Amino acid sequence: MNQEEYDFLSRLVMRTSGLHLGPNKQYLLESRLIPLAQSFDLEGIPELVARLRRSDALLETAVTEAMTTNETSFFRDITPFDELRDTILPTLIADRGTSKSLRIWCSASSTGQEPFSIAILLHEHFPEIVQNWRVEILATDIAEKMVSRCRSGEYSQLEVQRGLPIRLMVKHFEQCDGGWRVKDDLRKLVSFRRQNLLESFRHLGRFDVVFCRNVLIYFDAETKGRILGQICGCLHQDGFLVLGAAETVIGLSESFDRFRDCKSAVYRPKADSACTVSR
Ligand SMILES: C[S@@+](CC[C@H](N)C(=O)[O-])C[C@H]1O[C@@H](n2cnc3c(N)ncnc32)[C@H](O)[C@@H]1O
Repeated sequence: MNQEEYDFLSRLVMRTSGLHLGPNKQYLLESRLIPLAQSFDLEGIPELVARLRRSDALLETAVTEAMTTNETSFFRDITPFDELRDTILPTLIADRGTSKSLRIWCSASSTGQEPFSIAILLHEHFPEIVQNWRVEILATDIAEKMVSRCRSGEYSQLEVQRGLPIRLMVKHFEQCDGGWRVKDDLRKLVSFRRQNLLESFRHLGRFDVVFCRNVLIYFDAETKGRILGQICGCLHQDGFLVLGAAETVIGLSESFDRFRDCKSAVYRPKADSACTVSR
């Protein structure tokens, strides 16, 4: 691909998804987009770019989705889940005795292992809350393909083996063609929709916990700051933000304090946080 095509495609994915490629990622674009071009009966990158220049919304969405990295697993990096069980949820449950309501958002949920891990954790350790409270786990992702996968609740043998103890697999999944399907009592805790973090998410309402893990790493500092500002605005003042192990708010947002009772990247809105980013 020539420099002009590289610049065009980098600008496109930056505008549509926030993905910041920087220089010299030709190999990444080519490895993802040549197969995509072929699936659209286009010969290669030059034809793909020519079609995109004539503005083809379907193809633009396909390029955006093809450039996302969807790596995930059940109970990924385990510590945040231990801390959700031992610290975050007990704190919230003590504070929400009157409203009896709990809303958790997985804001880049990929194929759904993260929201279903949270649903399993709730079933295993807080059955009376699941039974008697209004509990909602919202799973969103930019890629419609990922949202459909989440919604199907179906996983291959390989996927369930990654991070999910056998005991929990047998208890919460049933066998289906080609693998395992999440059982209904787990599924009904989770709802799914498409949401691009670059767009306003005010319509999603307020949350007690936001998981935003392993997605900010793909964005530039300005985009990370804007998204963190919006997340602050959709968290209850006493809510929690959980980032990925390689992610931080430091140098990006003044709106959060590190939650010192947790070892992983857990933050709370500052008492006087002015989440002024327009939503
Ligand atoms: C590496 S996965 C992380 C999955 C999960 N949170 C975890 O930590 O295991 C990153 C996900 O972010 C999604 N993503 C990328 N850009 C996004 C955006 N602008 N808005 C919402 N989701 C996005 C991708 O589609 C992908 O599924």
